[in-house]
Amino acid sequence: MTKSLTKFTKLSNGVEMPTVGFGTWQIPLNENFKSTIQTAIQLGYRHFDTAQIYNNSVLMGEAIRESGIPRSEFFITSKVWASHRSYESAKEAFEQVRTQLQLDYLDLLLIHWPASQGEPMVWQAQNAGTWRAFEELYKDGLVRAIGVANFLPHHLVPLLARAKITPMVNQLECHPGYTQAAAVRFSEERGMRVQAWSPLGRGALIRHPHLLRIAEAHGVTTAQVALRWAVQNGLMPIPKATELQHQRENLDIFDFELTPEEVDELTRLPQAAFSGLHPDTVTF
Ligand SMILES: NC(=O)c1ccc[n+]([C@@H]2O[C@H](COP(=O)([O-])OP(=O)(O)OC[C@H]3O[C@@H](n4cnc5c(N)ncnc54)[C@H](OP(=O)(O)O)[C@@H]3O)[C@@H](O)[C@H]2O)c1
Repeated sequence: MTKSLTKFTKLSNGVEMPTVGFGTWQIPLNENFKSTIQTAIQLGYRHFDTAQIYNNSVLMGEAIRESGIPRSEFFITSKVWASHRSYESAKEAFEQVRTQLQLDYLDLLLIHWPASQGEPMVWQAQNAGTWRAFEELYKDGLVRAIGVANFLPHHLVPLLARAKITPMVNQLECHPGYTQAAAVRFSEERGMRVQAWSPLGRGALIRHPHLLRIAEAHGVTTAQVALRWAVQNGLMPIPKATELQHQRENLDIFDFELTPEEVDELTRLPQAAFSGLHPDTVTF
């Protein structure tokens, strides 16, 4: 599989997306929200990761329109929350976020978390129903790509058994200290590209001694090391940053290269900065 060493990554259906996205979870929903997004747009971000549960679709849509940049230049992701699993609910959720964003189409729609608890027959049917809705939205041209998030191999196997369209993306927590190697490999072997959520370990990796040493050797920051590790592993990181300097440096990761030994060292790091969120134990 082609690795994401370029600024754009091609999905299995030919759609291209900016390799580095901009995470929008927990950007405070106040008067500064739109200026944070506007600054990111001015710096060159075009790929924004949003979700039904983030409650920021109205503000995101306004920020995009007010930028004056053609809609076609953006790559906008949303995710259907756990409250809207199954065929009908997923369609409702999509219509809700699309109306809030005021967009004719979304670029990527993801199932935010797999249904995975209780009777397997029940949760597998829920995921299959949600996916059937996604397949229809895709065929109707309302989304350019469809995928999942937080699906581990045992969630993907039953989904793929019923799917007519293989997900194009799996969005997983993925960073040095929590690489989810088995899930990444399983997804990639089936043609999915993997997006890395919390690629900076929610900021917890910034002062990690191994990253500090590697950053110093390259004259870059620890955030850049973590993000570069992601792209050298074929992942698409979606860091969230409200600070201007953070936003700027998170995009600037294409002019240096980690050595294979450094990549390997970061891949083998003992568990660090894990969010604690696992799809089989979360309560939603
Ligand atoms: N699919 C899912 O279930 C799921 C779950 C969680 C997250 N996500 C997505 O992934 C995105 C990113 O994850 P995240 O927000 O949890 O964490 P993250 O991107 O790993 O880390 C964000 C934190 O790192 C800081 N930061 C960013 N760039 C930095 C830099 N260059 N130097 C130093 N500190 C820096 C930010 O500070 P400032 O804000 O102060 O700049 C913020 O505190 C989310 O926004 C969301 O879109 C998806």
